[in-house]
Amino acid sequence: MKKTRQPKWLETAVFYEIYPQSFYDSNADGIGDIEGIIEKLDYIKTLGCNAIWMNPCFASPFLDAGYDISDYYTVAPRYGTNADIKRLFEEVHKRDMHILLDLVPGHTSWDHPWFKESCKATKNEFTDRYIWTDSVWEGPENMGSLHGISERCGSVGVNFFSHQPALNYGYYKTKKPWEQKMTDEGPQKTLEAMIDVMRFWLKMGCDGFRCDMAHSLVKRDENSKGTISTWNKIRKFMDAEFPNAAILSEWGEPDKSLAGGFHMDFLLHFGPSHYNDLFRCEKPYFSPEGAGSAKQFVKTYKANYEKTDGKGLMCIPSGNHDMSRLSYQLKESELPLAFAFILSMPGAPFIYYGDEIGMRYLAGIPSVEGGYERTGSRSPMQWDKSVNAGFSAAPADKLYIMTDPDENRPDAATQINDPSSLYSCVKKLIAFRQAHSALGSTAEIEFVSDGYPLVYRRKDKNESILVVIQPSAKPAEIKAAGEVICSIGKGGSLSDGTLNLSGESAVFVLEK
Ligand code: GLC
Ligand code: CA
Repeated sequence: MKKTRQPKWLETAVFYEIYPQSFYDSNADGIGDIEGIIEKLDYIKTLGCNAIWMNPCFASPFLDAGYDISDYYTVAPRYGTNADIKRLFEEVHKRDMHILLDLVPGHTSWDHPWFKESCKATKNEFTDRYIWTDSVWEGPENMGSLHGISERCGSVGVNFFSHQPALNYGYYKTKKPWEQKMTDEGPQKTLEAMIDVMRFWLKMGCDGFRCDMAHSLVKRDENSKGTISTWNKIRKFMDAEFPNAAILSEWGEPDKSLAGGFHMDFLLHFGPSHYNDLFRCEKPYFSPEGAGSAKQFVKTYKANYEKTDGKGLMCIPSGNHDMSRLSYQLKESELPLAFAFILSMPGAPFIYYGDEIGMRYLAGIPSVEGGYERTGSRSPMQWDKSVNAGFSAAPADKLYIMTDPDENRPDAATQINDPSSLYSCVKKLIAFRQAHSALGSTAEIEFVSDGYPLVYRRKDKNESILVVIQPSAKPAEIKAAGEVICSIGKGGSLSDGTLNLSGESAVFVLEK
């Protein structure tokens, strides 16, 4: 495998995603906070995760759970202070862990002072910080826009929700007189401003960023060439000033994002990866009926793997704050197998908080802070069997999002003490991954079968491990040689070059 410069810690990183609102409330106001995260770091570490990605924690009117930032330099008071987050960085590092913050480079809140300045009719420093047309009657092409909201006669482009005006990184191809080139002063200043934000937090001690809607920066950029070159400038800054920090993209097209200098990209519920075929569709591959298909996923994965070999990591998350929970469309008996897959693939694995105990997706609960149907994946972490599942000592009606009302809701305390729980299985799989370099982020993968069972070989210079996962309830038989060193479910037996595998099982064979 070709090697490019990667921060060393990424090679063994196993990430845990924290949605700060819902993780742990340390002061009984009903909402999770930074002190709460500090108190639970040992839980994350004990599970085996050694890295964290935390969703946005900056000042915001919270119309999109904090993805609408009004001050990039200040922690939102609900979570604590900048001094608290600095302490979080220190506590993370004390435990030999790393933490990525969430950078939202593509848009701000409409409450951001930059935006208010840019709405003014008189020219000022922020006039070109956003994408404005030169008439209130004309909107920008191919994007939503706001008009009639400013003193300035123009319409302004939005990136996602209407309250999220798009920052101006320029157009790859310009057409209209008001469309600016990437090299124009406005877009250049936007980029400088974003690098300044990154520098501020990196200096304070964070280890990098997950970059929101990373694909969205440059407009009329059909093949993403402009966006790729913009990110390369950011990577250059990182290499020069913070070579051990990492950037991870929400993009879903590793052939593009890694060319843009990202150290890692996600395979996601949107984009061409076929990630949904595995866990989130009508007939997921991980189902005992064996009625799904991993073929398109494997095909796309292989193509990306070839294109990106050595450039960076493709990361498979168990879920995130934008999609339904892993447990929603999978049967309980399939969850350990899904984790056997996620935790034995190349790239850095990501576990969404609560997925390790099989937290449920709360379909149909009221939307909170622009979550809409995503709210069901953002409910409070279930720590134990006490009030509010141990998340908060506030009255239940004061909680940020309601807890799962099911009296049999899973909780961490119970599962930690049960060797047959999902938690124990995930913990075992992480430890197993960490004990075998062939299962690491950058070790090779070679697919052997993309049907039922799914079979792939992971190897590096030390060893070769055959991973065999049978989500279907039917037993399977394949050729294999070596020794079974880990099994999930009923497992299988290996003799005379034949592996007999029970249904809904996974085994790892150390090849001879
Ligand atoms: C990303 C975030 C999502 C947010 C959106 C707009 O997709 O993950 O939660 O709503 O960007 O920032
Ligand atoms: Ca709190």
